[in-house]
Amino acid sequence: MERLQPYLFVEINQKIAERKAKGEEVISFAIGDPDIPTPPHIIDRLCQAAHDPANHRYPESAGLPELCRAIAEWYQRRFNVSLDPETEVLPLIGSKEGIGHIAFCLIDPGDTALVPDPAYPVYSVSTMLAGGKPYYMSLKEENDFLPNLNNIRSYVLEKTKLLWINYPNNPTGAVAELDFFNRVVEFAQKYDIAVCHDGPYSEVAFDGYQPVSLMQADGAREAGVEFHSLSKSYNMTGWRIGMVVGNAKMVDSLRRLKSNLDSGIPLAIQYAAIEALTGPQDCISEHNAIYQRRRDLVIEVLNNIGLEVRAPKASLYVWAKVPEGHNSVSFTADLLEQVGVAVTPGVGYGRSGEGYVRLSLTIPDAALVKGLSRLSGWRNHHRLTIKK
Ligand SMILES: Cc1ncc(COP(=O)(O)O)c(C=O)c1O
Repeated sequence: MERLQPYLFVEINQKIAERKAKGEEVISFAIGDPDIPTPPHIIDRLCQAAHDPANHRYPESAGLPELCRAIAEWYQRRFNVSLDPETEVLPLIGSKEGIGHIAFCLIDPGDTALVPDPAYPVYSVSTMLAGGKPYYMSLKEENDFLPNLNNIRSYVLEKTKLLWINYPNNPTGAVAELDFFNRVVEFAQKYDIAVCHDGPYSEVAFDGYQPVSLMQADGAREAGVEFHSLSKSYNMTGWRIGMVVGNAKMVDSLRRLKSNLDSGIPLAIQYAAIEALTGPQDCISEHNAIYQRRRDLVIEVLNNIGLEVRAPKASLYVWAKVPEGHNSVSFTADLLEQVGVAVTPGVGYGRSGEGYVRLSLTIPDAALVKGLSRLSGWRNHHRLTIKK
């Protein structure tokens, strides 16, 4: 517990709350939590299921067979991948829960997990909680934010049990193509390492781009699993539902671990998830059009104030280089103090995130416009303070 820091966003939310308590209005680009509501047909199904007393009792921790089938069918339709719903699919209480717990299935004390840097913090924290050591793979802009697997020394690989990857990527917004996933599988098989791909942003993509799944790579279901979620695809972060698919042995060990720890996902939420996966999918392109418009506005303003940014093809994030003379924490503090705008400092995602900040596109349009107008004024504000 002494080594465990508070979760990154707990601290950021605290800072925002402190300023709000002083009566200041803060516009937050900090958290990746969709502002658009869950589509009504999904909520209708949830309410209907909540009224049925059969759904008021303990669920099975393995998830409803109908939900496992709906997940397998979704993978078939979306990625042309066939999964066995009984052995290769497991619903989760949000993907964070499974990402946290799988370390206990794969890591013994002293083992190593390869973890991207920067990254969603749970990969390294769960490794440490299981007694393992994260080995950080730096994601560099010149390498399109893909890890260079050839750089990892053999003495590290000897102790490595698990490789984490995540595309479309949080926080960089980078994407990976099938040839990368094929190389990952080949590498993992050569060194006998389990792959965990975290792909909750595969449905949030722009300009007609369609992200791929690790499961499409040759040999993927022998090499590892993919975590996915309904959180970002269907704006369901608050309902807590996700899934893991792929290698039957890994899925089975997580199922066994979870059956000893939790009592499953509330049944009404499982029925809502079935509706989300099997019902009309128009909401996905509608939401993406909104995020794409916001992405373009954010990039225009950031460029205007002199920040270097690549337009992400997918994910909910814009990863921007901080201006000269700043690091990610000083720039974040500057924005909050001078113009009341909250962003996330890149270093919060790992050492290689230094020099960047992350802006999330999950901010309602009216606040976005206000936030962008404040950001546009940052340069002037900054010059005035420097002159002083
Ligand atoms: C990369 C990544 N993985 C997993 C999650 C967790 O998603 P959930 O637990 O809502 O499924 C998030 C949430 O922001 C994320 O950014």
